[in-house]
Amino acid sequence: MGSVSLKIGEGTARFKRASVCSSAVNLLMLFSVITTNLFALYAFTYHPTSLHHNHYPKNISLISEKVSLILREIESSQKKLAQMEKDLLGYESIDLSKPNLAKELKEFLTRHQLPLGKDSRTGITEMVASVGHSCEKSTDLLSQFMNYKVNGLCPDDWSLGQKLILQGCEPLPRRRCFAKTIPKVGLQPFPLSLWNNVSEKSLSWSGIGCKNLACLNSKKLNRDCAGCFDITHGYETQRYVKARSKNDFYIDDVLAMSSGGVRTSFDLGGGSGTFAARMAERNLTVVTATLNVDAPFNEFIAARGLFPLYISLDSRFPFYDNVFDLVHVANGLDVGGRPEKLEFLMFDIDRVVRAGGLFWLDNYYCSSEDKRKALTRLIERFGYKKLKWVVGEKVNGAGNSEVYLSAVLQKPVRS
Ligand SMILES: *[C@@H]1O[C@H](CO)[C@@H](O)[C@H](O)[C@H]1NC(C)=O
Ligand SMILES: *[C@@H]1O[C@H](CO)[C@@H](O)[C@H](O)[C@H]1NC(C)=O
Ligand SMILES: *[C@@H]1O[C@H](CO)[C@@H](O)[C@H](O)[C@H]1NC(C)=O
Repeated sequence: MGSVSLKIGEGTARFKRASVCSSAVNLLMLFSVITTNLFALYAFTYHPTSLHHNHYPKNISLISEKVSLILREIESSQKKLAQMEKDLLGYESIDLSKPNLAKELKEFLTRHQLPLGKDSRTGITEMVASVGHSCEKSTDLLSQFMNYKVNGLCPDDWSLGQKLILQGCEPLPRRRCFAKTIPKVGLQPFPLSLWNNVSEKSLSWSGIGCKNLACLNSKKLNRDCAGCFDITHGYETQRYVKARSKNDFYIDDVLAMSSGGVRTSFDLGGGSGTFAARMAERNLTVVTATLNVDAPFNEFIAARGLFPLYISLDSRFPFYDNVFDLVHVANGLDVGGRPEKLEFLMFDIDRVVRAGGLFWLDNYYCSSEDKRKALTRLIERFGYKKLKWVVGEKVNGAGNSEVYLSAVLQKPVRS
């Protein structure tokens, strides 16, 4: 679950900023409405003294002049508002004519016409490379990221890239430099690799607070990873095969619930890859989505001979509809912010699970009764069959009781 909890923090922060921003927009809107109205009031009640003196009736052309002034004022306020909204939300795509933009960024983003004109199969006429629209908000960082020697070694800056991703700049642009390599010493053959210690030297520690596995294991990196890099002695060795509470389901029980069998699965925020390892022992394929927040999750998972997917949970999953037999998620679902954020995620999860496939919600921490109810309502809206549904309490380290929800749900066929 490496990526997830910090990602959540960032996500929440983003939402907070967004609501501050939208209230700024609202204020500006209110201001512009008031000023234009005051202006109109002034225009229609204003009687130039000269007119009174000469006892002219209302001079129509004077009024129409004022009206067109008001209209111009409104138009310019609207333009200002639209611009402000764009600036705040980063709607506008990157303006390649901006000064100080890295040359390579321009090179990457410049559209290229197809040499033979329109492609008859796809209908496209040009090749377009893309980066996330929020990159616009972070063009300085992005330019820093794209500032490298072409054909040379890339700077050791993966954490800069991740910082951009956490700010919503996803996907990142491609680069034309060689990423730093680390000699992968002591890799074990599969399936030994699943449960053998990974050599610390084969992991990249730059930009990470901890510099070794012992340090990582002494920390609770997130709700689903406390000591999760200890795959020879720690709790990881028991996960999914031994239960600590009724919220822990056995992997074989869940697999037995599927109709049509489980072959491929998607694990969201899968920590050090233990779910994938358990499935691999059963000859099943899992893709584990995780970032490298505070730990080298991706490299560790890869060293276990498993498939890490470096992606944040804020972007649409790069899979086609209905392709997975099972999606496993624990606290990755805890996205915070507005309820819509969770809905977008749930709909995307639903999209990639096949009809009859399973959604395994594993020890989701319900920080409040409201949160549990909201999630329950949301899940029920999807019409899944509840094959297992356990709300349990656990006492945490501080002696407080915490509520967890675990469930195995089956996706219905919808017509
Ligand atoms: C009405 O106002 C316009 C513009 O101020 C002026 O040019 C015009 O002579 C005025 N008409 C009369 C009848 O005073
Ligand atoms: C594997 O690493 C853990 C901690 O990272 C350590 O306690 C354990 O002794 C190591 N096991 C082996 C077989 O080296
Ligand atoms: C996994 O596949 C290997 C090689 O085909 C086989 O020997 C092993 O029995 C399989 N394991 C399970 C649990 O099916």
